[in-house]
Amino acid sequence: MGEACAVSNPDSTLITGIGELVTNDGDQGVYAAIADAALVIAGGRVAWTGPASRAPAADTAADAGGRAVLPGFVDSHAHLVFAGERSAEFAARMDGRPYRAGGILVTVKATRAASDAVLRANLRRLAAEMLRQGTTTFECKSGYGLTVPDEARGLALAAEVTPEVTYLGAHVVPPEFTADPAGYVDLVCGPMLAACAPSARWVDVFCEDGAFGADEAAAVLAAGRAAGLGARVHAGQLRPGPGVRVAAEAGAASADHCTFLTDADVDALVTTPVVATLLPGVEFSCRQPYPQARRLLDAGATVALATDCNPGSCFTSSMPFCIALAVREMRMSTSEAVWAATAGGARALRRTDVGHLGAGARADLIMLDAPSHAYLAYRPGVPQIAAVWQAGRLVAGSVPQLAGS
Ligand code: NIG
Ligand code: FE
Repeated sequence: MGEACAVSNPDSTLITGIGELVTNDGDQGVYAAIADAALVIAGGRVAWTGPASRAPAADTAADAGGRAVLPGFVDSHAHLVFAGERSAEFAARMDGRPYRAGGILVTVKATRAASDAVLRANLRRLAAEMLRQGTTTFECKSGYGLTVPDEARGLALAAEVTPEVTYLGAHVVPPEFTADPAGYVDLVCGPMLAACAPSARWVDVFCEDGAFGADEAAAVLAAGRAAGLGARVHAGQLRPGPGVRVAAEAGAASADHCTFLTDADVDALVTTPVVATLLPGVEFSCRQPYPQARRLLDAGATVALATDCNPGSCFTSSMPFCIALAVREMRMSTSEAVWAATAGGARALRRTDVGHLGAGARADLIMLDAPSHAYLAYRPGVPQIAAVWQAGRLVAGSVPQLAGS
């Protein structure tokens, strides 16, 4: 655990009076917390954590007043570059109409027609909304352009707000390629990839009936890898399918959705480093059965939670909402859900600097208006993020300074 590092940085900040400090810095892959704790930030990083009674001095000090401090949320799956909205589609679903991949094309049409300024404003509004809700790292996909220039501009815009940028040219086949889906895969693997790879870290594919099959998905991931991109896959969202197998064979960082899994899929998620990223806001918003988180956790898979924020299948940007759903509907414990929304998301993005508050981690943290992490599920729907720090800088909310500091 965290007691380490003497604090000599001139810009150090002590946060003391922390009722519960979630550090996730114990044994590999396990939730860890300290009661009655303090934390020191220096140079944008966590310099020290431990019992408040042993906290070192720092240049400034703040009092958490018994509130909980957690790592900032890591939302490893979001589609934020788009224009328009689909509330009527959502309302129809609530009246019994099933979710279909084809709805994506409604957003493609609106996104192609939108100016850069409109897309940028929408993206920045959603990024700010995430930050206020405690998300300090997020991934952002393209996938609503589906032409070379539209995908390239979507990724360039995403790169303005996050380093975790994902090329999703293989979201669905656009209407102009309906008669030639193989031609579209060639475009995605060829000229579109060449235009997009410079702005992206990841390549993703929607591997599902109505989108892309196993061979097409494998081809897209292989081409992405040859261009230096890491792989991620939309797998098993609407029915069991080859997505998890394709992800495992491609050495993907994450298979996302995992709503429908075979025994072989669970085995693959346990025996390979592929993270199972669950997106329970989608099941909520599509009135589908929730993913079997217990089956995955009990088998030993690494589970992450993310929002999938997008205008179709799930328009929430709230990680606290996803945590509450995971606890109530998927039988994850409160600590498992918080780990999955922080350290789990970091694993899904292959990041070691975020998702935990061990000494040396980036000082991305949130203070709750509550004494423990359990309140995120215990008080669903209630705004409880009192303050947010990113790389050591207070970027949302406020916290009382201690007198004399
Ligand atoms: O992750 N499944 C594919 N893509 C998104 C949905 C996008 C949309 O409906 O616009 C998802 O759920
Ligand atoms: Fe998605």
